[in-house]
Amino acid sequence: MEEIFDIANAFEIRRSDELDGDVIFHVTDEKTALLKKPGDMVVSENGITIYAGDEKTQDRWRKTGGRIASWVKSHCPASAALDCGPADQRELLVGLFLGAYEFSKYKEAPKEVPGPLSVVMEQAVFDEVKIICDAQNMAREWAHEPASVINPVTLAERAESFAQVYGLNCTVLDDEQLRKMGAGAIVAVGQGSKTPSRMIILEYPGTKPGKPVVLVGKAITFDSGGLSIKTTTGMPDMKYDKSGAMAVFGILRAASQLKLETPVTGVICAAENMPSDKAYRPDDILHSLSGKTIEIKSTDAEGRLVLADGLTYAQQNLDPRCMIDYATLTGACVVAFGHTRAGCMCTDDEMFNGLFAAGEKTQERIWRLPTDEDYMERLKSNEADIKNSGGREGGVCTAGMFLKSFVNEGMPWAHMDIAGTAYNNDGSAYFCPGSTGFGVRLTVDWLKSIQ
Ligand code: BES
Ligand code: MN
Ligand code: ZN
Repeated sequence: MEEIFDIANAFEIRRSDELDGDVIFHVTDEKTALLKKPGDMVVSENGITIYAGDEKTQDRWRKTGGRIASWVKSHCPASAALDCGPADQRELLVGLFLGAYEFSKYKEAPKEVPGPLSVVMEQAVFDEVKIICDAQNMAREWAHEPASVINPVTLAERAESFAQVYGLNCTVLDDEQLRKMGAGAIVAVGQGSKTPSRMIILEYPGTKPGKPVVLVGKAITFDSGGLSIKTTTGMPDMKYDKSGAMAVFGILRAASQLKLETPVTGVICAAENMPSDKAYRPDDILHSLSGKTIEIKSTDAEGRLVLADGLTYAQQNLDPRCMIDYATLTGACVVAFGHTRAGCMCTDDEMFNGLFAAGEKTQERIWRLPTDEDYMERLKSNEADIKNSGGREGGVCTAGMFLKSFVNEGMPWAHMDIAGTAYNNDGSAYFCPGSTGFGVRLTVDWLKSIQ
């Protein structure tokens, strides 16, 4: 069980007081004849000097960390050490930790592995970055697991051991309990699968009592589209449709290890969206936990259904100070923002400003979505209180507005559509192809700012 929490990186990263290793890296921000482009390296008797570039952003340090990690992974030195030079130590280390991660458990073990890398830096900074990045890498590892390994039932089992390891309180509601409670939306989405829906509630009490920040995560462990089935090209990568919930696990782990003041509660809405003779259908009318009925236009607009019940459950039972949901909700969001920014709908300006600032700081960037009532027109149903799809036009906004209609007046709420930012098959300077763990660093930074 332990190995699902202790995710080993491609090499070990340690802190040290001495610059000692087979290969010594020096970071510089001085341009020379040989160091022109970010990532350029020169070898001398002192070791390897790497150029961070003159870009005036903190991200250049993360990218530099990522490039050093790539070098270590491909050259496998017996040991290495890093002199941070003028770099922001914190962000350089973030790039190293995120860059050292790979999803390799199903591959043959490599013949050669790199030895440890020692980073000369402050202990307190090192410890905090390690906690946050290990949590983010765990979110990435879990997101990568295929649906044959993580389904709603195995996820709930995982959540129970997770809660024990990180000192959280855990409640699992199974499909029978959800049905009895009236959560007809989350139950319907999972009813076509042989592994039925689960709602998982994880509570971190905080070190200062108060109302919890509630984080609601979409955990569609596989999104085939259901009877409104996806195409051959639209279906691969839909194991990542649980990424929102994986971020929530990562945030809770970091909150507990950092002993943050603010109580944080996670509500994980888990279901597998499959076609079968038991599956929910277009034209079905669901009874959601809120009491609102929902007419199904597309069984592929399933994320908003499970989240509607999750948001309602939170407001009925958890007395939230505010709520944030994380969801790979719409293809339209990927079209609008690519892999660069998440779409964020928010009912509270102060909350949005805080989240936006945390996004700029951590490079987990967001952009605000409009909340005009006009979008609700597209969700009007002739036969029920609301319908689950507003069609292609304005898809990212109608999806958000659907969720908003389940949020009580006055409740500060943010919705993160992370469909584009949760994974990237091209990879980047400090992310291997696949999951990014988007949301973990952004939210931990924001939680620290509000305590
Ligand atoms: N999980 C998908 C959204 C998605 C698409 C995430 C591509 C990542 C990459 C979501 O459940 C979905 O299928 N949304 C539909 C909504 C539509 C039917 C209104 C979509 O975006 O096409
Ligand atoms: Mn879908
Ligand atoms: Zn989905």
